[in-house]
Amino acid sequence: MEELIRQAAGILAAKRNVVALTGAGISVESGIPPFRGKGGLWEKIDPMQYAHIDAFLKDPAEVWEVLIKSMKEVLDRARPNAAHQALYRLERLGILKTIITQNVDGLHQAAGSTDVIEFHGSFAVQRCMDCQASFDTGSLELDSLPPLCRCGGVLRPDVVFFGEMIPPNHLKRSQLLSAACEAMLVIGTSATVEPAAYMPVIAKRSGAVIIEINPEPTPLTGEITDLALMGKAGRVMSRLAEQVEKLMA
Ligand code: APR
Repeated sequence: MEELIRQAAGILAAKRNVVALTGAGISVESGIPPFRGKGGLWEKIDPMQYAHIDAFLKDPAEVWEVLIKSMKEVLDRARPNAAHQALYRLERLGILKTIITQNVDGLHQAAGSTDVIEFHGSFAVQRCMDCQASFDTGSLELDSLPPLCRCGGVLRPDVVFFGEMIPPNHLKRSQLLSAACEAMLVIGTSATVEPAAYMPVIAKRSGAVIIEINPEPTPLTGEITDLALMGKAGRVMSRLAEQVEKLMA
């Protein structure tokens, strides 16, 4: 692994337009369970029954009770880990330009990253389904579910449920940046949910080097990935940032 990390560091140190695509795996070491694989949330509850917009519209109280309330408890406690901090170090070196994240936990911004595309929206904000007023999730009292707006409307997290569109501006910018980047770091994603999982394909087609960090292989590994660093993001990304900083010193 050390040789692969040195190889990846050599590639990154020579680049000035790197983009990262991150998934739930980068936040596992912050105490947030992934969706798939060991300990995955979707192993316990059926996403189509609780994370689909039709389910929310049918019974918002149940979706708040089964899914959203527990997500709020986990996210309220979560803090950035070494992997989030390593990406910020690569931004400070002028190497990493933008993070396209599928996560809604806000941990990249909390680590200092300044250009983060929240592809699946953000859990930090709750929005009224009627008047569109927005509320900070952290300060929400959940004594009755679903939480209601002053106007009486139901509040929902500002995230993309299954069955909803990716915000068009986020999709377009992510496609453009993926087509223009020199290298893409693909960190902690099972690369199974479209269109996010297509960004590395766009990058590869445009000549970018694809570096994947994941303890498990994914549909990208072997096909699209040029360098597969098979390990946990915290340790691999820290070692990678350290090696790049040495090369740039
Ligand atoms: N470091 C790096 N990767 C890890 C770690 C770790 N410590 N632990 C787990 N992983 C990897 C797993 O091997 C898996 O490939 O993270 C990935 C997590 O996959 P998913 O849970 O499917 O997360 P993600 O790819 O982000 O899911 C995409 O699906 O349900 C929707 O909207 C949800 O944004 C999510 C989307």
